[in-house]
Amino acid sequence: SAASDVYKRQVWGRGSKNATDILMQGLEKLEYRGYDSAGIFVNGQETAAKLVKSVGRIADLRGKLGIDVSGTAGIGHTRWATHGKPTEDNAHPHTSTSGRFILVHNGVIENFVELKNEFLMNDTFKGQTDTEIAVHLIAKFAEEEGLSTLEAFKKALSLIQGSYAFALMDSEDAEVIYVAKNKSPLLIGLGEGYNMVCSDAMAMIRETSEFMEIHDKELVVLTKDNVTVMDYEGNVLSRESYTAELDLSDIGKGTYPFYMLKEIDEQPAVMRKLIATYANEDGTMKVDQDIIKGIQEADRIYIIAAGTSYHAGFGAKMMLESLTNTPVELGLASEWGYDMPLLSQKPFFIFLSQSGETADSRQVLVKVNELGLPSLTVTNVPGSTLSREATYTMLIGAGPEIAVASTKAYTGQIATLAFLAKAVGEAEGEVKAKEFDLVKELSLVAQSIEATLSEKDEIAAIVADLLPTTRNAFYIGRKQDYYVAMEASLKLKEISYIQCEGFAAGELKHGTISLIEKGTPVLALISNNVEVAAHTRGNVMETVARGASAITIVEEGVAREDDTIVVNQVHPYLSAISMVIPTQLIAYYASMQRGLDVDKPRNLAKAVTVE
Ligand code: F6R
Repeated sequence: SAASDVYKRQVWGRGSKNATDILMQGLEKLEYRGYDSAGIFVNGQETAAKLVKSVGRIADLRGKLGIDVSGTAGIGHTRWATHGKPTEDNAHPHTSTSGRFILVHNGVIENFVELKNEFLMNDTFKGQTDTEIAVHLIAKFAEEEGLSTLEAFKKALSLIQGSYAFALMDSEDAEVIYVAKNKSPLLIGLGEGYNMVCSDAMAMIRETSEFMEIHDKELVVLTKDNVTVMDYEGNVLSRESYTAELDLSDIGKGTYPFYMLKEIDEQPAVMRKLIATYANEDGTMKVDQDIIKGIQEADRIYIIAAGTSYHAGFGAKMMLESLTNTPVELGLASEWGYDMPLLSQKPFFIFLSQSGETADSRQVLVKVNELGLPSLTVTNVPGSTLSREATYTMLIGAGPEIAVASTKAYTGQIATLAFLAKAVGEAEGEVKAKEFDLVKELSLVAQSIEATLSEKDEIAAIVADLLPTTRNAFYIGRKQDYYVAMEASLKLKEISYIQCEGFAAGELKHGTISLIEKGTPVLALISNNVEVAAHTRGNVMETVARGASAITIVEEGVAREDDTIVVNQVHPYLSAISMVIPTQLIAYYASMQRGLDVDKPRNLAKAVTVE
C-alpha cells in the first residue's frame, strides 16, 4: 500500500483538571511502548490554545512546555514512524492550514495519496504523514462546504480507507473531542466531571477504572460530562461501561535498572500464580468447560501469533499434541491474514498475544469470526481487543510487561497452554494427561528458573567474554531446543543488535555453516533427550572445527563437566520454559554491556497495532 505513518500511542481529553498534566502523565505511562516523537495540544481558556511537539523522549517534550500550556481539554500522541522520518513536522498532533482543526491518529490511511490528489491538490503540507491529509480533508469539508465539524468528520471517515484511531478537536469549540476507530485500539475512560479516550487503558488507570468499548467504524463525541457513541450514519448507540481490574502498582521499576530484568525475575512468581489460577487445591484443572469442549470437538488446533508469542506457540506444540491427541499447526499472523491455508474440517483457533492488540493477529481473528469458527485468546491484557473479540479468553496474569522484549509473557503463555492441554487430555481420558502432574512439574519449573536466576553473575561474565564486540551469533538446537533457539536469537538481536540466527542444529551443515568463522559465537541448547543431545553435540563440534566459539546450555540429565550453563531438570513438556531463561539473561547482559537502552530498543514498539 501507499501506507504511512504512525502506530501505537494515545489520545485523550478531560474536564476539570489541567489537561496538560493528564496528557503528559498518560504519555509517560505509555513510553514503554516505543516511540520517536511526541506532541500535545491543549485548549487554552486564559491563554491561547497550545500545540507543542518534540522529537525524542517525553522528557524533551516536557522541557518545551511553558507554564502557560494548560487547559481543560486536549489531545496527545507518541509517534512511531513508519512513513516520514521522525521529525517535529511529522509528529502529531497535526493541524489544518488555518490551524482550526487539530488531529492525532494511530494507524495507516491506505488511500491518502488518492485523497490528496482528489481533494487537496492546492493544499501545502508541513510533513509527509497520512494524518495531515486527514485533518486537511476535514477542514476542507467544514470550511469550504460549510459542514458542521461532526458532519465534516463523518464525510472524511466515509472516504478514508485503512486503520485508524482518531481524536479530533476544533479550536472554535475546544471542549469537545471527536473520536473514531477502525482496526486500531481505542478505549473510553469515564470519570466524574471528566471523560477521556486512549489507545491503552494503562495510561488512564490513574484517573479511572471505568471503561467503555468502541467498536470498529464507530464515532464518539466526548465532552467532560457526556459520551455519545454513534455509527457512521449518526445513529446513537447505547453502550454499557465496565470496570477493569488493572493495578497501577505493578508498573513501577522498583530498584531494578531495567524493566526487562525485573520481568525476567518475576517468572517463578508467574508460574506459581498460574498454578493458583488454573488448578484447584486437589490438583484438578480449573479451565472453562466450554473451551475444553471446543477443543475436544476440533480436529486441528491452529495457533496464530507473531514474534515471541509465535515462538511460545512452538514451545507448547509438542505438549498440546501429545496431551490432546489433536494436531497443532502454527501460523504467522502477518502471513495468515493474506494467505490462509486450506483449513481442516473442524478447526479451533488459539491466538497467543501478550498485548492482545497485535494488528496482524487481529486481522486473522476477524476472518476466523467471519467464518464462524471458535477461538481462544491467551493474553496478558484483560479486555484487550483480541480478548474481547475471540470466543474465549485465558489470561496469563503475568502483570504488565513493560520492557519491549517479551520474557514473562512467553513463559506464561506456555504454562497457560499446559493447563489447557492437561484439562483437554483428561477430559479425553488420555492416560498421559492424567499422569502428568502439572502442579508439581510447574513448581519444579519455578525452582529451575530460580536456580538459573541465581547464576546471573556467571551469565554476565560469559556474555562479557563471548559477545563484547561480535556482530553475529548462532543459537542451535533440535526439537524443543530448536524452538527455544528461535526465541533466544530474536531476544538477542532485538535488544543487543547482534545479528543472530536460531537454527535447527542438523540443518546448519546444509549451507549456513559457511558463515562460521574464527570466533563466531555458537550457542547450543541441549535439553534432556539423550539421542538428540548427542547429535546436537556433534553439530557443535562441527562448528568448533571451523573456528566457532561454542557455549553450551544444557539440561542436567545430559550435562557434562565442560558445559557452560547447566539448567535444572524439568518435565520434557515444559523444557521450553526453563531452557529459555539463560538466553533471556544473555540477551539482557549483551544489551546492557553495550550500553544500550535495554527496555526501549531502537526501531521497536511494544504493541504492534499496524499490519
Ligand atoms: C519480542 C516481542 C515481539 C512480540 C510480538 C507479538 O520480544 O515482544 O516479537 O512478541 O510483537 O506481540 P503480542 O504478543 O503482544 O501479540
